[in-house]
Amino acid sequence: MPAFDYQRLYDRMAPFYAPAMRLLPVWRRYTEAILPWLPADGRILEVGPGPGVLHARLATPTRMAVGLDLSTGMLKQARKRVPLARLICGNAVNLPFAARSFDAVAMTFVFSAIPDGQQAMREFARLLQSGGILALVDAGIPSNGNRPGRWLAAAWERFGDFMRDEAALMRQAGFEIVEQREFGAFNSIRLAIGRKP
Ligand SMILES: C[S@@+](CC[C@H](N)C(=O)[O-])C[C@H]1O[C@@H](n2cnc3c(N)ncnc32)[C@H](O)[C@@H]1O
Repeated sequence: MPAFDYQRLYDRMAPFYAPAMRLLPVWRRYTEAILPWLPADGRILEVGPGPGVLHARLATPTRMAVGLDLSTGMLKQARKRVPLARLICGNAVNLPFAARSFDAVAMTFVFSAIPDGQQAMREFARLLQSGGILALVDAGIPSNGNRPGRWLAAAWERFGDFMRDEAALMRQAGFEIVEQREFGAFNSIRLAIGRKP
């Protein structure tokens, strides 16, 4: 069977993604859950910024932000929203950066779209400095097993997403877990924060 063409899917979604986020303001609030965990200065990589809604908040006078996304359509939208951003096309499983070149890696609603999650985790570990932060928000299966939450997770899986234990994968890649919680609709959103020792 041919590999699913995620790039094409996201290219098609790109013009509609930010308007859909405006219709569902809670989506944006979910993504913002990673902000308090990011270092105030240094270099931060956002993987999968999509149309750049969160990315617009990452670069500050003391923090340099780079965005990397698989989809040229999404990058085009992000460039319109954040004209001065440093945005490049690439894949999370093979990052075009030197080892230890970032202080934080951030991603929201991206990890569940990456088929080879272990390889992506290895890449994040490789390019973080010692003490660097990996901050992730994504959809998942609620640990209390509530029915609407399980139904939501099953719906994501039908769209081709992978519902995983991100914190366990972080640990396997050598991260220490500094925060892990479920929140949002039916506890179906997960925040996982790892630190590279
Ligand atoms: C569901 S959107 C999330 C966009 C934004 N981060 C948000 O929270 O709204 C997923 C984004 O991740 C990107 N993406 C998916 N797989 C990727 C991969 N392997 N490497 C880099 N980006 C990827 C997609 O192109 C898309 O822009």
